[in-house]
Order: sequence, then structure tokens, then C-alpha cells
Amino acid sequence: MFSYDGMRQHVLADDEFEVLQQLVLDSSGIVLAESSRRSLLDYLSTRMYQLQLGCFQAYRERLQQDSTELLRLINAATQSYTTFCHDKQHFNFFTNTLLPELAKKPEQELRIWSVGCSTGEEPFSLAMVAQEVLPNIDEWDIAVTATDHDSEALSTAMKGIYPLSQVRHLPARHLLRWFRSLRIGSEEHVQISPVLQQMVAFRRLNLLSDWTAPEPQDAIFCRDTLIYFDMPKRAYLIDRFADSLAPGGYLFVGESDRVEVYSDRFEALGNAIFRRCD
Ligand SMILES: C[S@@+](CC[C@H](N)C(=O)[O-])C[C@H]1O[C@@H](n2cnc3c(N)ncnc32)[C@H](O)[C@@H]1O
Repeated sequence: MFSYDGMRQHVLADDEFEVLQQLVLDSSGIVLAESSRRSLLDYLSTRMYQLQLGCFQAYRERLQQDSTELLRLINAATQSYTTFCHDKQHFNFFTNTLLPELAKKPEQELRIWSVGCSTGEEPFSLAMVAQEVLPNIDEWDIAVTATDHDSEALSTAMKGIYPLSQVRHLPARHLLRWFRSLRIGSEEHVQISPVLQQMVAFRRLNLLSDWTAPEPQDAIFCRDTLIYFDMPKRAYLIDRFADSLAPGGYLFVGESDRVEVYSDRFEALGNAIFRRCD
């Protein structure tokens, strides 16, 4: 049975794991795999210590009363969860509003920063859409910066190799143009085309470290990442993101990130999209 007692930790019992599975399933539809049990135990140990909760039952009650706490658990359990073209509304806005707006300017420059890029699906999707939507793409100066603190996730991102199941939801025209198939052992995989790989620069960055922003960005995608930070740190990061955006640049965040609570430097456009307005 799990209990937090100083630095001692025990196993997450079957019934406790099932409670967490059910709570996560009911609120998000995500099925927690048995393989996530070990990392959940580490997470619970730290989190219960932070919350000063002495036993699993107290933590369970907290989860039932506090949806943010539940979301935090879901994110911890799916820490590197990401997918290609994740969040339709964001990609629709990027495709139909942001890129056409930039295409009207004479500079032909695009700067995007994917913060918390995990295994790379997000920055590659953005590069893919830019390739398809921007006119005279070869004349553009494009830089997609993708950062994460997780070096394992970054190493997958840099290889650009994914199981076929990761891309099955993409339209066939995307698959044919931007991926080549690859067999690893008995499993089918795909590899991102070199054109997209060359567009994305991955680097390790811990948002809690003392970082310097890349040059002014047209858009920053920081989705499902702010949840890991306490409120003062979120406020600080959102302010730093405003500094890192060009005037009028866009910030895309996770569904539950209420940027307006932390900063008045952004105009809310709906669907977790914000525009720098100062
Ligand atoms: C759920 S994933 C986000 C995936 C992607 N942004 C998307 O929406 O498709 C969250 C990412 O935040 C990263 N992360 C968590 N804490 C971080 C930190 N302190 N600095 C940098 N990245 C962090 C994790 O490593 C993880 O890859």
C-alpha cells in the first residue's frame, strides 16, 4: 500500500492504481498503462510531500475535489504525450490566420518556438504546415526552434523516427509527402523527411534554468507544459514568453492555462490562443 512517510515510499497497490486509472479515464479518456505505474509512484511520492498529504486516501480525496490536481496527475502520467497536429483548433488558426497574415508581410520570415516539444511531433507538424501553406516557400527564411528538458525525448525527436501508429490519423497526402516508411525489426515505422528535419533545431532547455530567449518569435507553442510549474513560475514564464515574442506575436498554450490570470500583456483570442498586445 502506498503511503508517504518521510522519504520512504512503498508500492502502489493494485486497488490504488485502479483508482487512479479510473479517475484519469473518466476525466480524460486516457487509459493509464501498467508501464506507467513506476513513474506514477515517483510522482505521487513528490507530490504528496509537496501537498503534505500523509496517505493515499487523502491524495485521492484531493484529486476528487480539485480538477487542477487531477490534470497535474494526468500530465505527469502522460508527461511526454504528444501527437502530430495535436489540437485541431490550434492548427486551424496557424494554417488559416497566422501564416496568411505573415505571408502578407514583405519580410518572408517565420520564427516559431516549440517549448516542451517532447519527441518532436509538434515542431515537425508546424514545419509541415508552413511548407504546405506559405507561398514561394523556398524564398522564406524559416527557423523552428524546439526545446525540452528531457534529453531522451529530444534524442527521439532528433532521429525523427516514429511507430506507424503515431501517424495513422494524418491525411494520406501528408503521409506520402512528409514521411518515408521504415521497418525496424518486425515493426513498421516512419521517418520524417529531411526537408522538415532541416527546418527544426532541437536543443535541451530547462525552463526552470536561466535561459535566454531565441530571437523575437512570431509564435510560441507552450502546450501542456506550464502545468508543471507553480503559479509564480507560470507568471514569470508567461512574462518571459511575452518578451520573446515579436509585437503582435501569438502564444499557444494548454487548454487549462489561463494566461490572462498571470499577465495583461496578452489579448485572449479563444481556444487557448493569445496575442501579445503591448
Ligand atoms: C505533454 S508534453 C508537451 C507536448 C507538446 N507541447 C504538445 O502539445 O504536443 C510536456 C513536455 O514538457 C516538458 N517539460 C516539463 N517540465 C519542463 C521543464 N522544466 N523545462 C522544459 N521542458 C519541460 C516535458 O519533458 C514534456 O516533454
